[in-house]
Amino acid sequence: MFLLLSFTWIIAGITAEIPPAMHYRVKNSSLCLHIKPPGYQEYEWLFEKDLIVHSKNIKTKYKDKVYYNPKNGSLCITKLNETDSGTYSLSFINSDDERAIETHKLIVEETVSRPFIRSSPLHFNLSADPCNITVNCSVQGDWVCSVCDNNSCTISQRSLFSKVNITIFLHNRVIVCSGNNNVTKSNVSESMEGMCFGKSNPEPENVIKNRHLLLG
Ligand SMILES: *[C@@H]1O[C@H](CO)[C@@H](O)[C@H](O)[C@H]1NC(C)=O
Ligand SMILES: *[C@@H]1O[C@H](CO)[C@@H](O)[C@H](O)[C@H]1NC(C)=O
Ligand SMILES: *[C@@H]1O[C@H](CO)[C@@H](O)[C@H](O)[C@H]1NC(C)=O
Ligand SMILES: *[C@@H]1O[C@H](CO)[C@@H](O)[C@H](O)[C@H]1NC(C)=O
Ligand SMILES: *[C@@H]1O[C@H](CO)[C@@H](O)[C@H](O)[C@H]1NC(C)=O
Ligand SMILES: *[C@@H]1O[C@H](CO)[C@@H](O)[C@H](O)[C@H]1NC(C)=O
Ligand SMILES: *[C@@H]1O[C@H](CO)[C@@H](O)[C@H](O)[C@H]1NC(C)=O
Ligand SMILES: *[C@@H]1O[C@H](CO)[C@@H](O)[C@H](O)[C@H]1NC(C)=O
Ligand SMILES: *[C@@H]1O[C@H](CO)[C@@H](O)[C@H](O)[C@H]1NC(C)=O
Ligand SMILES: *[C@@H]1O[C@H](CO)[C@@H](O)[C@H](O)[C@H]1NC(C)=O
Repeated sequence: MFLLLSFTWIIAGITAEIPPAMHYRVKNSSLCLHIKPPGYQEYEWLFEKDLIVHSKNIKTKYKDKVYYNPKNGSLCITKLNETDSGTYSLSFINSDDERAIETHKLIVEETVSRPFIRSSPLHFNLSADPCNITVNCSVQGDWVCSVCDNNSCTISQRSLFSKVNITIFLHNRVIVCSGNNNVTKSNVSESMEGMCFGKSNPEPENVIKNRHLLLG
């Protein structure tokens, strides 16, 4: 009884001490997992609780999905899809003759598509300054709304679902919307000039000058 207890304590101790290694991959790429110190014995690869490789043979279900090198134990998972996200574990006999587990967590994400930006002045008023612009930037079903004044953008509303981290900011009087996940990022920008008739916009002055020329 005491032996059994201390055994489970050791197992729990081992699994709790080593956090899973995180791996982020873009869809359709691949991930290779290696056995770090050679000398591990009787290793087996599992996906969740499912054996991928057993007695150095790839299970039929995984034949089109993985490459396995029986010499060094390396496992490569190919043509990654969201459905391949999850926990991959290596079960092995370590140098102390104990069965141990090493876990790897894989997250497969799509390439972030180009954000779609829509902006309009909040109030179209020649004499009002500063000019505020509402911006709605959407990426793959997620969106963020911000109000941008002449020096910053403030989030006013956002969608609940968030596969993509969306940020809207100003860079040299250009509104930039950037979307990223853990594997890729993409941005679009739109100039604030011409959207507002503020002090920094020379357009009204030009109109007056031109009128002068025509009259003169
Ligand atoms: C996945 O990658 C392979 C080559 O690595 C390519 O031939 C194929 O077109 C890609 N598929 C998609 C859906 O991107
Ligand atoms: C194991 O062998 C494969 C193919 O021969 C190779 O790509 C991989 O890098 C090797 N793994 C290690 C840890 O050397
Ligand atoms: C890839 O993942 C998507 C989303 O999870 C799923 O609908 C699709 O069936 C998967 N494709 C394959 C080939 O497994
Ligand atoms: C435009 O802004 C000025 C100053 O903020 C304000 O006095 C005026 O009423 C506004 N005009 C309109 C049409 O909103
Ligand atoms: C933004 O507008 C305010 C109010 O008109 C003005 O005081 C400030 O200088 C402006 N800032 C920039 C960076 O243009
Ligand atoms: C425009 O933005 C400024 C600064 O954020 C704010 O004080 C002002 O009330 C806003 N004006 C309108 C019409 O939303
Ligand atoms: C922002 O744009 C998205 C996509 O076009 C739309 O679904 C969403 O309702 C918009 N949000 C607001 C507050 O208008
Ligand atoms: C979200 O995007 C902002 C700006 O690009 C960045 O600073 C932040 O680290 C991102 N957060 C995550 C979780 O990727
Ligand atoms: C990156 O992945 C973690 C999960 O490991 C998730 O919580 C986080 O939101 C992701 N960040 C982005 C920007 O997608
Ligand atoms: C937008 O993306 C491009 C690459 O596509 C990058 O060179 C540029 O620095 C990005 N702009 C900002 C403001 O992040």
